[in-house]
Amino acid sequence: MHSFSYKNGSLHCEGVDVQAIADIHGSPTYIYSAETIVKNYKDLDASLSGLDHQIEYAVKANSNLAVLKLLIDQDSGFDIVSVGELMRVLAAGGEASKCTFAGVGKTYEEISYCLQKGIYCFNAESESEIIFIDQVARDLNLIAPIAVRVNPNIDAKTHAKITTGKKENKFGVDFEYIEDIYARCATLKNISLRGVQMHIGSQLTDDTPFLQAIDKVAPLAAKLKELYQIEFFSIGGGIGIVYDEAFASGQEEWWTSQPESQRPLTFEKYAAGVIPKLKDLGLKILFEPGRCIVGNAGILISKCIYEKKGEVKTFKIVDAGMNELIRPALYEGYHQIITVKEPTGNTADLDVVGPICESSDFWCKTLNQENFKEGEYIALMSAGAYGFVMASNYNTRGLPTEVLVSGDTAKIVRPRQTVEDILKSEIDCL
Ligand code: LLP
Repeated sequence: MHSFSYKNGSLHCEGVDVQAIADIHGSPTYIYSAETIVKNYKDLDASLSGLDHQIEYAVKANSNLAVLKLLIDQDSGFDIVSVGELMRVLAAGGEASKCTFAGVGKTYEEISYCLQKGIYCFNAESESEIIFIDQVARDLNLIAPIAVRVNPNIDAKTHAKITTGKKENKFGVDFEYIEDIYARCATLKNISLRGVQMHIGSQLTDDTPFLQAIDKVAPLAAKLKELYQIEFFSIGGGIGIVYDEAFASGQEEWWTSQPESQRPLTFEKYAAGVIPKLKDLGLKILFEPGRCIVGNAGILISKCIYEKKGEVKTFKIVDAGMNELIRPALYEGYHQIITVKEPTGNTADLDVVGPICESSDFWCKTLNQENFKEGEYIALMSAGAYGFVMASNYNTRGLPTEVLVSGDTAKIVRPRQTVEDILKSEIDCL
């Protein structure tokens, strides 16, 4: 469930009228619900209570400091992919000792900074990287904790651009080489072997690939524990969310109305599948969820600037474009469009498009869609994950405002970037 619903004819985020946020802060603006983020975290954590576990929220999904602070308050750890993300966690009041560092291309500066801050573990993705981490640690006279990311060659059956667990993907070390790599790592003086990790992909709505990957890697984890006394097995992130219909009928009712085989992955179903396979390993199990914590906790609001009627199409041109939310253009991602004013059933076939000079800059094409007028606002739903974090200055447009709602209070957590902000560094170079 999420905390967006219609009250008194207008979309609300918790107790705050979205129209009022639009009137004060303009658009495009991301709005996040603190209640939904915390509830998602707590629900996932509770469903995993049968395991000795730690959630390492994937910072890349939404790295706003206010969002990180909410999760720090829940005792979350963090999975980071750059030194910048560690700096964010620290700035929000978190600790490096609860962070894991993923990614195939960690640099000297990143490794040394994280080591000096006392990171919990580097999730290394190649033998070259492990040798390099050992060298950096030697330079600093420190011991680097590492886990090796194993590529189990399991098809996550998700979008090709967010599949990571197949041999042809750049991630991790082939399953067949892993034991040799651990044996070699064990000879390196400035490395300590702390765990083993995997992550097969993102936006999985079926638990079968997760279970196949665990079946393949859990025996290896048990063996590595015996041989090297590793302490954790991270099974990565990837739990998908409902993008379609999620809003219209409330997620829970919608889920239960679907045939069993087509129901998306609930935390309960995920936990019921993975826990029995992991609980007797005697290892701490790490989870790296991103999307399922913040995805349905955020919306992007946008104002209709113009209507353009053509012979075959009616275009609604709104002020949010692919530079604010790139998922539709990049992954054919779908974000349900709803009007901020409560729908009256006055529908039409519309193309809702952004202002960017690219044909891929559209939100929907010719759907039977609640009609809206110039000057009115729409909300793009489930935009809390991989939304703002992937925004860019394309077309020299400033990054949008971010607002966090908690109860009856809406607070700016990142002000809109002005064009002056964008130009300043270049003007200084002239
Ligand atoms: N752990 C690792 C090592 C990852 O690479 C990722 C995501 C996660 C955890 C978190 O996965 P999640 O629980 O959020 O599925 N921009 C794309 C998604 C890219 C995911 C990258 N890795 C999108 O908008 O769909």
